[in-house]
Amino acid sequence: MCYNGRAMKTLRQCVSDARAKKIAIGHFNISNLEGFWAVFNAARELNVPVIIGVSEGERNFVGVRQASVLVRSLREEFSFPVFLNADHTYSFDKVKEAVDAGFDAVIFDGTELPFEENVKVTKQCVEYARSVNPEIILEGELGFIGKSSKILHGIPAGVKISEEFLTKPDMAEKFVEATGVDLIAPAVGNIHGMLAGGVDPALDLKRIGEISTAVSIPLVLHGGSGNSAEDFLGAISNGVSIVHINTELRVAYRKALVLSLQENPDEIAPYKYLKEPRLAMQKVALEKLKIFNQPNKKL
Ligand code: G3H
Ligand code: ZN
Repeated sequence: MCYNGRAMKTLRQCVSDARAKKIAIGHFNISNLEGFWAVFNAARELNVPVIIGVSEGERNFVGVRQASVLVRSLREEFSFPVFLNADHTYSFDKVKEAVDAGFDAVIFDGTELPFEENVKVTKQCVEYARSVNPEIILEGELGFIGKSSKILHGIPAGVKISEEFLTKPDMAEKFVEATGVDLIAPAVGNIHGMLAGGVDPALDLKRIGEISTAVSIPLVLHGGSGNSAEDFLGAISNGVSIVHINTELRVAYRKALVLSLQENPDEIAPYKYLKEPRLAMQKVALEKLKIFNQPNKKL
């Protein structure tokens, strides 16, 4: 637990605790207030720290400063370690906007840029964030794993999950050294989105371990929807300290929303017909948090 009754721990401290305990912090994307409460309620039920993520599209919808204020309001009112991440941010200006709005963490996503350009912009983001608030966590990404949290009918265009295309430990080491990032998100067989059958390809656990040894900073696993509990535990024991989930929350929300509208055709109060969709997302977040926070038997 990151709240010890005296002082709230920062996200940096929570990540370092997770790493020491070989567990992971759950990162869940939200697009609306239902998601926001679903994730928070799940984390509170288990009394574990949690990260709420908003991608550029999600924060355009929710509001950048509004997301920041909402998460801070939860942290303060409930004295609870809930943090906000500016997920997949594609330009320095958008990183700056999130840093200035008081986000706890920011990801610069330069995975589609040539290596040197990715390094250059990531470094610029790290330097800016540190100059504003040394507590902000900066994450860099190396290796393209697709861009959308959606149901997939094949591996996303431009993604290659065969060994020679995954992130190489020596390149990850070079990237971390050159940029000064706090966290790195590699391509290790993971993909954004989830295959229609609900089961994504297995992760390259050996590579996760090799990258972790090479970089000596915590790893972040993106594209968690569709991966098995066993893969999560293997990834965590090999150096992953944060796991991202989005598609499974979106699927649960939409399914429950359709059902709720069908079952209550005359209901027009959103706070009534959105109750079940919110609970459906909460259930997904709870299941994942239980996996990420369980003492890892694979050690
Ligand atoms: O940054 C967001 C995540 O990586 C979510 O990926 O939609 O495959 O769960 P997912
Ligand atoms: Zn991601």
